[in-house]
Amino acid sequence: MDQDKKYIEISHFLLKKILGTTFPNPPVVSLIVESDKNFKRNKIISFGFTNRGGRPHAEEMALKNVIFNRNNSYTLYSTLEPCCHFGRSESCVSKILKTKINRVVYSLRDPDKRVNGSGESLLKKNGIEVLGGVMNEQAKKFYKGYILNRKLCRPKVTLKIGCSLDGKIAFKPNQRDKITNNIVNKIVHIYRSEFDAILVGSDTIKIDNPKLNCRIKGLENNSPLRVVLSKSLNLNLNSEVFKNCRKLPTIIFTTKFNTEKIKKLSKKNVNVFSLERNKFKLSNILLKLAEIGICNILVEGGAKVFTSFINENLTDSIMIFRSSFFIGSEGKDLIHYSHKEVKNMFALKEVFPVEDNTLEILENKNTI
Ligand SMILES: NC(=O)c1ccc[n+]([C@@H]2O[C@H](COP(=O)([O-])OP(=O)(O)OC[C@H]3O[C@@H](n4cnc5c(N)ncnc54)[C@H](OP(=O)(O)O)[C@@H]3O)[C@@H](O)[C@H]2O)c1
Repeated sequence: MDQDKKYIEISHFLLKKILGTTFPNPPVVSLIVESDKNFKRNKIISFGFTNRGGRPHAEEMALKNVIFNRNNSYTLYSTLEPCCHFGRSESCVSKILKTKINRVVYSLRDPDKRVNGSGESLLKKNGIEVLGGVMNEQAKKFYKGYILNRKLCRPKVTLKIGCSLDGKIAFKPNQRDKITNNIVNKIVHIYRSEFDAILVGSDTIKIDNPKLNCRIKGLENNSPLRVVLSKSLNLNLNSEVFKNCRKLPTIIFTTKFNTEKIKKLSKKNVNVFSLERNKFKLSNILLKLAEIGICNILVEGGAKVFTSFINENLTDSIMIFRSSFFIGSEGKDLIHYSHKEVKNMFALKEVFPVEDNTLEILENKNTI
């Protein structure tokens, strides 16, 4: 129908508002549209989105309190195919079948193998008209992390780098420097709110002592889970990242087992995942994070960690915030790669001015 694209577009617009808030489930927006028998007069009578923590699902929220009039037709629009498996609660298909919904229109077929077309089949079997794949390409962009999680068992990885014009991330090694402007700082905090997790290396914890939360007023509750990589576990327990861990879940990946320090960290509600030395690989760490439901992870440094993600070809996207000044040869290099090598692996997709700084967005040429 002519209006299908319009309503899916509205759902995509609303979807942007809940990115990063529904871990461990994917964000979904649903609309209910009431139409006369000829679909000449249509109006949105309800909408719903996946709630914090992933429950209730968007369809359930949208269907709540809808009063169906038997002379009209009802279409449920959804950004993702409705689920048909019974998990923690009744499936969305089952809920839809208990109502007077006549049509279901969705954007992305659910890549989760428990659904993947079965939601659509079950609806059709029960006499519901279904149209899937509306604005599928746009939906794939929103759901890339979810697709990677379900198909490759890893989250979408985005590196976030702040650097000088000549690609340095600090004025000297082993020191913390502010390189980009205050607006960049705000933008980074907004980005943080849209990710499920932030990851850093142990030296960044030691040198920068970051909080790794979202400090934009009103978005504080969208702070992501924090992940620290430290084989040696040579970390100060009083670091900012180990504060407030009941509210801001924090995970450390290490090669140490059963140490006093692990016990102390556990008391602070830090989750410590110990891996054998030969298993301490980014691919295994990402697998573990995917298993707990992480779909989008923001890697915030430092240089060694950035380099490992690029070396192991586990980077989907890079956001480079570049300042307007040079640091020179004494500065700390961004990644141990030449400009040419990065250019071969990544395509520059967009450049935005941020006052006197710029934001460059690069995407891996070979990612799915
Ligand atoms: N401008 C920016 O965007 C930005 C962002 C962050 C940091 N920085 C700066 O970068 C500097 C710190 O960076 P850095 O390169 O020295 O260290 P880093 O990347 O923050 O941390 C490296 C450490 O993390 C641990 N690690 C565990 N697994 C790893 C893996 N797969 N790959 C790499 N490291 C792994 C290792 O220590 P263990 O022995 O404990 O395992 C390693 O020595 C500071 O000056 C900081 O201010 C800048």
